[in-house]
Order: sequence, then C-alpha cells, then structure tokens
Amino acid sequence: MRRVYMITPEPFALRGQAAFLRRDPFLAAPGEALGWESDARLVVRHGRIEAFGPAAHTLLPAGVPDTPLGHRVMLPGLIDCHVHYPQLGVMGAMGHGLLPWLERYTFPAERELADPAVAHELARYFVAELARNGTTTAAVYGSVHAHSVDALFEAAQGSGLQLIAGKSLMDRNAPPGLTDDARGGCADTEALIGRWHGRGRFGCAVTVRFLGTSSPAQLEAAADLWRRHPGTWLQSHLAEDQDELALIARLFPGTRDYTDAFDRFGLLGPRALFGHGIHLSDRERARLAGSGSALAHCPTSNLFLGSGLFDAVAARAAGVPVGLGSDVGAGTTLSLLSTMGAAYQVARLRGATLTPAHLLWLATAGAAQALDLGGRTGNLAAGLDADVAVLDPRATPLLALRSARARDASELLGVLMICADDRSVQQVFAGGRVAWQRPDPPG
Ligand code: GUN
Ligand code: ZN
Repeated sequence: MRRVYMITPEPFALRGQAAFLRRDPFLAAPGEALGWESDARLVVRHGRIEAFGPAAHTLLPAGVPDTPLGHRVMLPGLIDCHVHYPQLGVMGAMGHGLLPWLERYTFPAERELADPAVAHELARYFVAELARNGTTTAAVYGSVHAHSVDALFEAAQGSGLQLIAGKSLMDRNAPPGLTDDARGGCADTEALIGRWHGRGRFGCAVTVRFLGTSSPAQLEAAADLWRRHPGTWLQSHLAEDQDELALIARLFPGTRDYTDAFDRFGLLGPRALFGHGIHLSDRERARLAGSGSALAHCPTSNLFLGSGLFDAVAARAAGVPVGLGSDVGAGTTLSLLSTMGAAYQVARLRGATLTPAHLLWLATAGAAQALDLGGRTGNLAAGLDADVAVLDPRATPLLALRSARARDASELLGVLMICADDRSVQQVFAGGRVAWQRPDPPG
C-alpha cells in the first residue's frame, strides 16, 4: 500500500490567521518574539513561500484565488529533532529507566528490522504519522540495518517531508544480531550517504547510537566519515540518565565528562545534534556552544523513563541551539503540539516558565537552527520552503470551548499545546506538497 500525495497546482495562496516567530524568545524582550497576523496571506510557488504577510499588503498572483482558512491557524511546519522510527512498536513499555528499557524492549524490537518487510511496514506508518501530526522535518534514527534507512527514505518519497536519517552505529554492548563492526558500519553509512544525501529533501546523519554501544575504533571511523562528507549530520545521545553517565565514565576513563568523550573523538561541531543533554555541567554547555553543537530536548521521553528535567533556559543562555524531539519510542507521542506542552511542564518542574513563543520556537525556528536549516525552514517567511501546518482550534468540543475563551493569540497557542494533538492538524504542506489533509474537514 503506497500513499498517493496530492500536488496542489502552484502557485496557491492560503489566507487566514497565522502564528510565526519574529525573534528568538530566549533572547528577545517579552512580547517581541511571537508574530501573529489575524488576516495573513501565504503564497506558495515551486515548493517555496513566495510571499507572506498581512493580506492587505501581500500581492495575490494574477488568477490565483485565496484558499480561506476560516477559524483555523497556520503555523510553520513542526520539526522533530530526535526520533527512532524502529521503536514505534515499543511506545509505552513501562517499568524501567533507560538502560534496562533498552535491553528489555528496545533492542529486541529493533532486531525485528533485520527483516526488510518489517522495516518497510514501520517506515510507512511512521511517515504517515509525521505528516498527520504536522511534522514536516525530522532527524531520524534507523536500526543498525542499513536497509532500515532505505525503507524510510523510500516511504517518504513524494511526501515532501524533509528527513535526515542514518543507520545506528553500534559495535558493542548490544545483543547478537544487533551489532555491526567499526569498518562495516561506517561503510554502510557511506553507501547510504551516496544513495540518499542531498536527494530532494533527504539528508544523511552519521548516527552514533550512544557512547555505550560504540568502541573507540568505531568512534574514530565515524568521525573520519563525518569529516569526509561535509554537509552531513552527526546524531547521538548525550547525558540522558545517571546510570548511563556512570557507564560512560567507566567505558571512557580519563575523560573529563560525557561531552569531553565525544570531543576527544572529534564528534562535536556544527551539524552535530545530541539528544537530551540533561545532566550537563556549565563547562559542557559552553563547549557544546563553542563547537556549534546542538541539543534535542525530548520532554515526554525524559518524563516517561524518569531520566531527569532538561534545563532549556541554561542551555540557551550558554548559547547552545536547542530544538524539540519526540524521542519515540521512549517518547510518548509523535505530536509536537503535545511535546511543546510537556516542555512547558518540565520547565515548570524546574521553576522556570516557558511562554508559548518559547515553545513554538523550540518546535520550529529554534529546531531549524539546531539542525542548521535556519535558512530553509522553521518559519513563515518569503524564501523559506513551504512547510506549513494548518491547525483547527475547534477540532473537538472541549477544544472549541476552551479556545473560544482564549484572550489573545499567545493564550490560544498555549491552549493548543496543552489540549490539542493530531486531532487538530487539519492540513499540512511539506515543501509545498499536501502531506496531510484531514479527510472530512469540520465546518
Ligand atoms: N540511548 C541510547 N539509545 C537510546 C534510545 O534508543 N532511546 C533513548 N531515549 N536513549 C538512548
Ligand atoms: Zn533517542
């Protein structure tokens, strides 16, 4: 079963309410970051946003009608900076912290992808779910099997989605059938780069699963590979859980801390993206920022596994780019709306308050910055790729009741983050293509 994606004749124009980012809310004065237009026009041509602004000042191309959005709201397409598609089938596996969760549930589930048919089936579900949730860009972990990444990119062909992906490198501390070796794993990754990197909206990431499952020889080979292919990404996990920290300290004696272990192998730098970064010192944040490395904050995963409470304010204050990640299957949802809601709650547990502007930033413009794609996506602005999520604040009776009582745009966005999820995602454009359209739009 292959999805058929609609291609809307271009140019086309959406007209209605729009939320976007004017500034980085972690740096701007309160109230200056969130952009809101109550009557915006967004014109799409050749997969890009040709024009965006108040309808009164944004020209409609000759012969192109406005598509009115009514009470709905357009947002930049959402960005998931950290997600494992092979883990869709272990979501909600309870009872353990990170390391036993990996051993009991996650490694066995990933071993099933040795069968390419399983990889293809999960990849098709995953791509459809991303679009249904309003996610137009994602950084994705495959399993150790190179064909899992082929399956993902094949499933996404024609969708318009922007995907960055790699096969997980792991040559130790994993069960039989789930390891590669230092040379073979990198050779497989290099072949994937040759097949997919830069093809349409697809990019490749050298995917070091985490320092616990790679030998020094594999880490050296991964760094060499990453250096030899400029423009590729490097993704891994960092400082997620206390038992994991103890394991890494044992495996890499003589390093100052977890970040230093990556540093010694040359695995920090622009386009290096690390999931979590919960248990970091000021030194580590400064080193991440100084090297141009970024963090993916995965609040639903951190709450589910009990890993800890990420300090988004400290990371941004140190200058580390931060985007949100679902981290499914430890994460409990692919919805970045719900993930924004969870990031709010994690911040509250730390005694901090993130505004709807902060949260939207983390799922859009900030995430694009973390992926070094700020010039391409993550906002509504002329010249960016046409990645747009159209949300329905009246998608359920309760949402309709609550959103009618929102006093301003910021409050409405907050309500969507706390009370809404995929049910509110009405229509999604990815690179100008219709990646998702609710079958039966409520009136
Ligand atoms: N650390 C190493 N592998 C994983 C994984 O699959 N999920 C999470 N949350 N952390 C990890
Ligand atoms: Zn992860």
